Amino acid sequence: MEKGCVLSKASAVLLGVFFVVVVVAVGLLAGLVGRETCEVERDGEADAVVVPTTGAATPTPYPPGPWDNVRLPLTLLPEHYDLYLKIDLENFVFSGNVDIRMLCNTSATEIIIHSNKLNISKVRFTDSDNTQRDVTDFWFHTENQFLVVPTGKALTVGQMYGLYVEFVGPLMDDLAGLYLSQYAGPDGNPRYLATTQMQPTDARKAFPCFDEPAFKANFTTTIQHKSGLSALSNMPIDRNITNTPEAGWTTAHFQPTVRMPTYLLAFIVCDFGYIELTTANGVTLRVWGRKEAIDSGAAAYALDIGNRSLTYLEDYYDVTYPLPKSDMVAVPDFSAGAMENWGLIIYRETALLYDPTTDAQSNKKRVATVVVHELAHQWFGNLVTNLWWDDLWLNEGFATYVESFGTGVVEPTWLMKDQFVVDDLQSVFQPDGLGNSHPIYVPVNHPDEISEIFDAISYAKGGSLIYMMVDFLGEDTFRKGLTLYLNALAYSNAFHDDLWHYLTEGAKLDGKDVGLPGGNVKTVMDTWTLQMGYPVISVVANGNQYDVTQKHFLFDYTANVTDKYGDLGYKWYAPLTYSQGTANLDNPLTQWMTPDDDTLTLQGVTPNTDWIVVNIDQKNYYRVNYDSDNWDKLKTALMTDHTVFKKTDRAGLIDNAFSFARSGDLNITVALDMTKYLENELDYVPWDAAVGSLAYLTVMLERSKVYGMFKDYYLTRVQNLYDNYGWADQGDNQLNIFAQVTAIGRYCRLGNETCIDEAKRQFNQWKSEADPDNNNPIKADFKTTVYCNAVRYGKVEDYDFVWDRYRMSTNAAEQSKLLLGLGCNREPWVLSRHLDRCLNSKEVRRQDARTCIQYVMQNEYGRSLGWDFVRAKWTDLQTTLGGFSSLSRLIASATDAFNTEFQLQELIEFAEKHPDAGSATRAIEQAIERTKTNIRWMNDNEEVIYNWLLQNM
Ligand SMILES: *[C@@H]1O[C@H](CO)[C@@H](O)[C@H](O)[C@H]1NC(C)=O
Ligand SMILES: *[C@@H]1O[C@H](CO)[C@@H](O)[C@H](O)[C@H]1NC(C)=O
Ligand SMILES: *[C@@H]1O[C@H](CO)[C@@H](O)[C@H](O)[C@H]1NC(C)=O
Ligand SMILES: *[C@@H]1O[C@H](CO)[C@@H](O)[C@H](O)[C@H]1NC(C)=O
Ligand SMILES: *[C@@H]1O[C@H](CO)[C@@H](O)[C@H](O)[C@H]1NC(C)=O
Ligand SMILES: [Zn+2]
Repeated sequence: MEKGCVLSKASAVLLGVFFVVVVVAVGLLAGLVGRETCEVERDGEADAVVVPTTGAATPTPYPPGPWDNVRLPLTLLPEHYDLYLKIDLENFVFSGNVDIRMLCNTSATEIIIHSNKLNISKVRFTDSDNTQRDVTDFWFHTENQFLVVPTGKALTVGQMYGLYVEFVGPLMDDLAGLYLSQYAGPDGNPRYLATTQMQPTDARKAFPCFDEPAFKANFTTTIQHKSGLSALSNMPIDRNITNTPEAGWTTAHFQPTVRMPTYLLAFIVCDFGYIELTTANGVTLRVWGRKEAIDSGAAAYALDIGNRSLTYLEDYYDVTYPLPKSDMVAVPDFSAGAMENWGLIIYRETALLYDPTTDAQSNKKRVATVVVHELAHQWFGNLVTNLWWDDLWLNEGFATYVESFGTGVVEPTWLMKDQFVVDDLQSVFQPDGLGNSHPIYVPVNHPDEISEIFDAISYAKGGSLIYMMVDFLGEDTFRKGLTLYLNALAYSNAFHDDLWHYLTEGAKLDGKDVGLPGGNVKTVMDTWTLQMGYPVISVVANGNQYDVTQKHFLFDYTANVTDKYGDLGYKWYAPLTYSQGTANLDNPLTQWMTPDDDTLTLQGVTPNTDWIVVNIDQKNYYRVNYDSDNWDKLKTALMTDHTVFKKTDRAGLIDNAFSFARSGDLNITVALDMTKYLENELDYVPWDAAVGSLAYLTVMLERSKVYGMFKDYYLTRVQNLYDNYGWADQGDNQLNIFAQVTAIGRYCRLGNETCIDEAKRQFNQWKSEADPDNNNPIKADFKTTVYCNAVRYGKVEDYDFVWDRYRMSTNAAEQSKLLLGLGCNREPWVLSRHLDRCLNSKEVRRQDARTCIQYVMQNEYGRSLGWDFVRAKWTDLQTTLGGFSSLSRLIASATDAFNTEFQLQELIEFAEKHPDAGSATRAIEQAIERTKTNIRWMNDNEEVIYNWLLQNM
């Protein structure tokens, strides 16, 4: 799966709140985006037939038995499913039957199979001698989502049995299992489609099945649908039969699938259009979407990038793509960013459609990275699947790594490995630096626990650890091991130790195992995967040598570490890469630090007048701190000629210095000293790190006497960047465009009149268009800055103009830019009305409600209104946004800037008033803890920053 509609660090920081972004990103990564029930308006149509889940005989209480375990027993192993689905988009209902052939693995007297929210009308058991018997005493274990079918006899190990089930289910707009989505056709009337999202535990909501990743089987699917629509599934259609069994209906018979888990199944019935091509290796590749979107050309980029990356990945893995086709479909309502269903990848529209005339470079990057991410899964995840969800990170970490480096191969000018440092490494350093983080390999059982780990740790930390491994093994060796792994475990499942094993085999082939601590990959990687967090490596000159030590990095040194799994003592096997001066920047010296090294001496270097840098190119998952003398040398070197350092290392120095200033490992004045050179910095990656770091100061100082001077200092750092790029066309140079967007976003946001006037001028030009919905002269990359500043400094009519465009637009990427702009208003009454609109599903798609509110909270004029809104509408929010995780994220956004005793009291009162806040309880507790830390940070740093600014302005 791909993370949901994550705000880019840059675009959200544009509005000034880094911490909100981190928390939002973590939350959105949870894959639960929009999982809140998302009811669609159904103008005048009959209500959905909501079928209650009923059992033939559900015993209360349940008798004790194997169904008490939330995990399936290993008694019956499915080999083949024949699945028939009739999908009725007029009555919002689906019905069907499934015929499963199963091998008896250990004897049992019942079949335990997943089923959720389905009404079961008939169950038939086929004995090993093929005799059939209708079963009437089946029952449901609702909590564990089991259908229990007594077999009336003990099953014999090694024999094949059959289970046939007929079922009916409601086609609801709940974004889970087989569900309903809709959009407005050109005539304004609603068009409906049925689509799926099975991962992790919702295939059982579409049909009864053994819904765990290790229960792989072949599936032969048949879909009955109204003629004139298209039916899609994992495999191509073998034959269509029209007017059978009913006139006006078509029955599409799909080819049988390869062996695969249930969570990768997908079905779509829609009226979409598509474009297609055949790849060099003969795979039919299609991109589907609303006909209007396809006709406008918005699918062309995805088809091109899909073609190039699919072919590249076959070569990279050295394993042929095993299916004859790959369909990629953009659906209007989708919970995550995209889902890698084998042969039928489903995306939200913003992750697949890119219209070069209206969409920004950041939209293009998103389409490329998500397409590559999903295609990477076709092998890593689909061909070889994690044995259980506790190893989700194997799938997602790898896909995150490939999303970055694979995109870098097909779009080399984007320098994706550089962008990885700010997009992933530094982003996940934030949540993983907290006392309540969790190890990347984490025991999970219940569906709620499984959903929880679709987070930044599984994705971005997973990707960062793989990046580190690729570096210490070498790319060729890594690839060799990977190919061994994929071939050995194809169509089967893997535990992380399997990957370590085959990578070690790869290392042996290249004679590299001898250089590894313990001679294998597992020894090293266990320290990174079985305990949470990461180390800070300290490098201190000591006479003629550099002494190196490591300790667990924590933003809050008083934090209580809640890791209940790890017992490795928070010491890591860290591959050190270093250079003294520029001597080894391109070919770093290397040395392993082991958990047993209390103090290590760096080999091959002795302190002299040159600076030293460790972790060249930020390829490893640790921070590095230095003695004050070395920080001083680094600062001077940056001021003299910052280009002697790699861009990634400039980004690393800034991010590390500010993080150490928060953890108490470094004086804030040293971090501020590192920002001086920024007046000469023109590159995006270091700037993105700087903007992220300074966002915390911005939010903290916003209401302090220090803010005026801080803002002026910040403006002087940005000025050169702004003057350099201005509003000039940067062609197709992604990194220049991102640097430019950072420049104008910051400069306007910090209040430079020249910048704001230009934004207003461009906005007014748009406003004067006769047909603004079809003619927008604003360059797509500038839109968020222009919309935000026009609404911020404009009149109510400017807000209204943007709101009308939002209502008229059918482009999801455009809508999200407009929604961001609307949140920038400064009038309390306008913002209050806007907040109400966010919660009205007739005005804002329910999948976008939470971001709509969060955009207001990122605006310093909206922050306290947002907090009032959350408190006043608590009950409403609980029902409208459904799941508590949404509320957790709102709480986090609303309170991230809290840093006063008064705000702390408000939070404590709120917590006392809502002791039953469910999983939001944790978010409230975290908010209280964070507020305490912020108060302490202010006490420690406010005066120091004030004095530093006095001396440095
Ligand atoms: C089945 O019907 C669809 C939709 O009309 C069509 O595109 C497809 O080519 C047909 N497939 C076969 C194998 O007849
Ligand atoms: C099931 O899938 C495997 C590949 O995983 C394939 O070799 C086999 O032919 C398939 N069986 C059927 C009945 O399609
Ligand atoms: C850590 O736990 C101790 C003892 O339970 C408590 O006194 C302290 O406040 C906790 N620290 C934080 C930051 O919550
Ligand atoms: C940080 O440095 C400043 C200026 O040198 C000094 O006034 C302040 O006390 C230092 N803060 C800490 C926590 O050491
Ligand atoms: C705003 O920015 C422009 C362009 O960099 C600069 O010339 C001008 O002096 C700035 N305005 C103020 C008030 O600093
Ligand atoms: Zn994924």
